[in-house]
Amino acid sequence: MRKYQSPNEAILEPIEKASRDELQALQLQRLKWSIGHTYANVAPFREKCLASGVTPDDLKQLADLAKFPFMTKADLRDHYPFGLFAVPRTDIRRLHASSGTTGKSVVVGYTANDLAVWSELVARSLRAAGVKPGDMVHNAYGYGMFTGGLGAHYGIEQYGCTVVPVSGGQTAKQVQQIIDFRPDAIMVTPSFSLVIAEEFERQGIKPHEISLKTGIFGAEAWGEGMRAEIEARLGIHAIDIYGLTEVMGPGVASECIETKDGPVIWEDHFYPEIIDPETGEVLPDGAEGELVFTSLTKEASPVIRYRTRDLTALLPPTSRAFRRMKKITGRTDDMLIIRGVNVFPSQIEEQIMADAALAAIYEIHVTREGHLDALAVHCEVKPETGAVSPADLAAMGEQLKQRIKALIGISTAVTVLPADSLKRIEVGKAKRVYDTRTQQS
Ligand code: DLL
Repeated sequence: MRKYQSPNEAILEPIEKASRDELQALQLQRLKWSIGHTYANVAPFREKCLASGVTPDDLKQLADLAKFPFMTKADLRDHYPFGLFAVPRTDIRRLHASSGTTGKSVVVGYTANDLAVWSELVARSLRAAGVKPGDMVHNAYGYGMFTGGLGAHYGIEQYGCTVVPVSGGQTAKQVQQIIDFRPDAIMVTPSFSLVIAEEFERQGIKPHEISLKTGIFGAEAWGEGMRAEIEARLGIHAIDIYGLTEVMGPGVASECIETKDGPVIWEDHFYPEIIDPETGEVLPDGAEGELVFTSLTKEASPVIRYRTRDLTALLPPTSRAFRRMKKITGRTDDMLIIRGVNVFPSQIEEQIMADAALAAIYEIHVTREGHLDALAVHCEVKPETGAVSPADLAAMGEQLKQRIKALIGISTAVTVLPADSLKRIEVGKAKRVYDTRTQQS
């Protein structure tokens, strides 16, 4: 892996080095503004507050936020498309939407100020990742209504880098552009980065021959095993960037290259809480639960206590003044209940990645046979594992089955396939889980 220069202390913004007291004073001042602004301009939020018996005057300290009602994805869908906007439509400079697997998508708006803040935060994220002004960044996040492409794009420009706006798909062409243009960094989903790595391997290009030094990966959950694999196969530092449409897009939190210890939440713009997803009770730092965000500066689509459904924990500050989040382990709506046992796809991924011969490409199939749930895992060997006999594939499958049984407690049907057998996703987010139970029962 190439050596990088960790960002010089002198180039950090003052707030990134602030004391906890200074940060909390700023958060309280901004929180009061955000709640007041949302209450005054978003009728459904005001009605929810009135029903819960709270008004903006009840917010005297940060902890008082817990008195306010949650916002959920259902609220955003119910007021589709523009019902929760806090500014006139004519002040909106851009719209984005989350794809939404079921029903209506969620639409968010941005004022000119919101777009400026977003670019600043993506620029801050690039700096945290060790990227430098003047670097070239290959942006393979999808362009369009998805926030990834355009969100990253304007941040890259804002930071003074050259953006290569490739979007998703056309892997061979992307690889050719990386070879010809020699970008320093890539922004892409972790799953698509592995498809790109495979194309380099197919062309016989070694990791140290690839110009990339850093990759900034998000939009999907990816564990430490996946990080190690991406770093080895592309010869880069793999940095985690987190975000979601409802709260802004990429750049709500992002990891620092000097520590790689979980995304740093840009707490001067987003106030995080962790709650018990069952009871809604606020949990202390360090406890695992559902991540909830309140925007502190957003004008067009403010969110107050938005339940993300992402499961993580808040960790103490390390390289910046802000708290970090643990790498996402899953989503409340990702959790599969298999014969009464709670299973997260990330747990299965971890067991696959524990075998150095297996690739980070897999599918989880859930079916119902009679009254019983059945779980099948399809994965494949890495190309460098070479030709593997059917007996060896079966033996590797048996070992994975045993590991899953020992650590998660359920029986699975595991199929290990030769390299390059499963479908590659080149556009959008990787699809890992195929659950057909709802159609069958
Ligand atoms: O995925 C925004 C984004 C684009 C983030 C590019 C990072 C890079 P949505 O499509 O609304 O927005 O999906 C948001 O994706 O609630 C998480 O479940 C998941 N997610 C996003 N980043 C990460 C990450 C974009 N770094 C949803 N790790 C979120 C794990 C992530 N999950």
